Amino acid sequence: MSEPVRVALLGCGVVGEAVARRLVERSAEFEARVGAPLQVIGAAVRDVDKPRPDSGLSADQFTTDAMSLVSKADIVVELMGGLEPARELLLHAMAQGASVVTANKLLLGEDGPTLYDAAESAGVDFYYEASAGAGFPLLRPLQVNLAGDQVHRVVGIVNGTTNFILDKMDRTGAELPDVLAEAQALGYAEADPTADVEGYDARSKAAILASLAFHTRVSTRDVHCEGIMSITAQDIAAARKIGCVIKLLAICERVNTPTGAEINARVHPALVPKSHPLASVRDAFNAVFVETELAGELMFYGRGAGGDATASSVLGDVVQAARHRVHGGRGPGESAYAAMPLQSIGAALTSYSIRLEVIDRPGVLAQVASVFGDQGVSIESMRQGVARSDTGSATLHLVTQQATDAALSRTVEMLRGHDDVTAVTSVLRVEGV
Ligand code: NAP
Ligand code: HSE
Repeated sequence: MSEPVRVALLGCGVVGEAVARRLVERSAEFEARVGAPLQVIGAAVRDVDKPRPDSGLSADQFTTDAMSLVSKADIVVELMGGLEPARELLLHAMAQGASVVTANKLLLGEDGPTLYDAAESAGVDFYYEASAGAGFPLLRPLQVNLAGDQVHRVVGIVNGTTNFILDKMDRTGAELPDVLAEAQALGYAEADPTADVEGYDARSKAAILASLAFHTRVSTRDVHCEGIMSITAQDIAAARKIGCVIKLLAICERVNTPTGAEINARVHPALVPKSHPLASVRDAFNAVFVETELAGELMFYGRGAGGDATASSVLGDVVQAARHRVHGGRGPGESAYAAMPLQSIGAALTSYSIRLEVIDRPGVLAQVASVFGDQGVSIESMRQGVARSDTGSATLHLVTQQATDAALSRTVEMLRGHDDVTAVTSVLRVEGV
């Protein structure tokens, strides 16, 4: 049997504690799977006095001196989150020859290339399976199993908190602030849920997915992002009337243009037909659709958050890195050879759902339709609500055929200034038709 593989944990919170416990409880199994014992040499935390009975670690294994811990490790498992000191610690770990496992989507989305380059120069493994689709295999299939295929599109629900909120609004008719409070009480949303509801968490994951899918460096700055804070119970009810639900989607697509392939990456709420598999993803679950040239359509589904589910992916990475240290070999590094240009959101091609309040008088439908026609946007369907005699207005709900975001934005601007339109109450994209 080989020498023990020394594992340092950076962070022992929701995920770190679940990882530590399994490393301690199942040490014999891990030893058999790796071919050497995995020895937890310590866990760096902010507060060493905080009780962590579920970690299986003894009090003397906790330290605030993360850098010293890193210096003694063969594998560093970063589960503290945030940009610093995580970045500095991981760069130090790689420079002194340690393999690195992380779930830190924020850091990867912001500055992945610095870490990929450091892993490459040090010749060490760098794994981050839990950073998107935390509890189910997603990144390794993209990076390894689909390495011989060409990915066309990755579209999915990658944030559990927002899916819980939108699903609950759909089921109960409640407004978002009430459901958000429930998501916080149930522990799905962060204490500060901004990263979830503003779409930033999904944006980081979209950057990671697009980088792997398209062999191109994509950072969070390249991903258009809209959150769900403006979604109302009325939006959900209107979506239901046309057979749709609203989901926060991360969409990364390869777009063929006359000058070559480009990438469009975006996060935004969208209407999804109830017949689409993504529509039936409930609660805090995640699901990601991958469309490829050879394999066709693939769907990855599971828990996108939670200590145990995330620990499953983290531990898979730890075992893989440990096997390499014991038996030799190295996992795949960054593949960014394609270096495809990133499109702006204006070029994104999709359908739209638009709700308007218009003056209820003869000829108004033709007037509205001509605004769309003038901007080259075709109308797929139109529903008129019951006219209100008190205000003399009526609600129109239109769904367009595919149009560019730029053309749609111009249309909405024209509608807002139109004499017959008293309000544009909602503009949402429609995906999956
Ligand atoms: P968490 O519960 O807040 O735990 C963070 C841990 O890191 C705590 O033990 C904390 O110490 C420690 N820590 C933070 N800053 C530190 C510093 N400067 N020095 C030393 N220790 C520090 O976070 P989490 O939910 O486990 O998430 C960890 C990582 O996994 C994040 O990158 C997150 O995005 C990612 N992730 C989480 C989930 C999930 O479901 N929770 C899913 C996927 C990915 P104290 O305990 O002493 O405060
Ligand atoms: N806040 C994230 C979510 C945690 O709700 O999906 C997992 O990345």
